[in-house]
Amino acid sequence: METPRTHAVDGAVRRIRVAILGCSGSIGAQTLDVCRKHADKLEVVALSVNTSLDFLVKAAADFRPKRVAVADERLKGDARIADLPGDCSVRFGERAVSEIGVEDDVDVVVVALVGAVGVWSCVRALEAGKRVGLANKESLVIAGDLIMPLSRRSGELIPIDSEHSAIFQCYRGEDPAEAHAIWLTCSGGPFYGRSRAELEKVTPADALAHPTWNMGAKITVDSATLMNKGLECLEAHHLFNVDMDFINVVVQRQSKIHSMVEYCDGSVMAHLGASDMRIPIQYALSYPQRWGTPCPRLDFRQLGSLDFGAPDTEAFPCLALALEAGKVGRTMPCAMNAANEVAVSSFLAGCCGFTDIDRTVAHVMERHEPERVESLDQLWLIDRWAREEARAFVASRR
Ligand SMILES: NC(=O)c1ccc[n+]([C@@H]2O[C@H](COP(=O)([O-])OP(=O)(O)OC[C@H]3O[C@@H](n4cnc5c(N)ncnc54)[C@H](OP(=O)(O)O)[C@@H]3O)[C@@H](O)[C@H]2O)c1
Repeated sequence: METPRTHAVDGAVRRIRVAILGCSGSIGAQTLDVCRKHADKLEVVALSVNTSLDFLVKAAADFRPKRVAVADERLKGDARIADLPGDCSVRFGERAVSEIGVEDDVDVVVVALVGAVGVWSCVRALEAGKRVGLANKESLVIAGDLIMPLSRRSGELIPIDSEHSAIFQCYRGEDPAEAHAIWLTCSGGPFYGRSRAELEKVTPADALAHPTWNMGAKITVDSATLMNKGLECLEAHHLFNVDMDFINVVVQRQSKIHSMVEYCDGSVMAHLGASDMRIPIQYALSYPQRWGTPCPRLDFRQLGSLDFGAPDTEAFPCLALALEAGKVGRTMPCAMNAANEVAVSSFLAGCCGFTDIDRTVAHVMERHEPERVESLDQLWLIDRWAREEARAFVASRR
């Protein structure tokens, strides 16, 4: 595909045209912020939300996209739809979300949706030959075996997850065959150092208070259980075409080293910078260029120390479970992810405890018989099956 960049069209500079799927979330709103900061280079042409209509109306007034999608079809008759600009078309339904990015007037699709629902949008955008700025890590966890070959044939995949953007940049200009290991950094989450017994008492309010990043509820809980790090190992395994054993997780409490690649000669390339998602978001839009920083710079004189440690997989079994799912491969990560999504939303709804999250994931993984990944339809059925199993398990614990 042609690399999207600002370029002259008939003497005028054309801006990169961006569709943001999940614009009302943490990543989506920060993508809008980058678009606002670089309005001379970026044009927002399409936006989607699930239910956040007030946010959508405000963003549409500010950015004047050509079209928007609302995933929740029950909002079709909502009076707030009339507040959208008159020249902005509206579509409804989950399918509409994946469709608004595939039209000819889009250069880059930012997939900032949360959960398994992101798979279809990622696939549709790549099939349409778009650059995909991928925040939705669940896409690669579930369907990496289908998405990576697709991305080599059509479109272009640029990671937005800060660790993967860091690794992507540490690989730039190097021969991947000379890499020895990936060091994937981890903040340790809000419960770093706690015992299993202490974790039994954790509440949703405790879990939602992340020390470093301000993120959506699902990824914040995933960060607290360390499932997020497991999902990221799977994401890195697919993105960089490396075995699971090639990836080492290291706790870096300050979240200033975003990840590292170690080469065969012992040299280690690290990516450092402010803990601000707008940096990797912007890089997915500007690549291969670099533009002015979207956030305050890091002053190393103020930073003090950088600490490192090993993750505790006994107190936080979700990391070990995800690594195991990655090693088993095939459809196991799909079942593992679905179980985790159900368990996290049950925990947030007060229907199970914090440590029931890993118990639910382990239960579903034990019952799943992995198959070779063949199609999205097959993955969809396994996702449904795993959700049912997880719901039944959570209900049995009450
Ligand atoms: N947040 C971070 O700092 C961060 C960092 C790295 C990676 N990520 C990854 O990026 C993704 C998004 O994370 P986030 O923290 O931005 O999540 P979030 O704040 O929960 O936002 C999710 C977005 O997806 C929309 N959405 C939710 N369910 C949907 C559905 N069924 N159909 C269509 N749209 C739906 C939401 O719309 P409504 O507002 O209408 O519900 C919202 O716009 C996740 O995969 C996460 O792991 C996030």
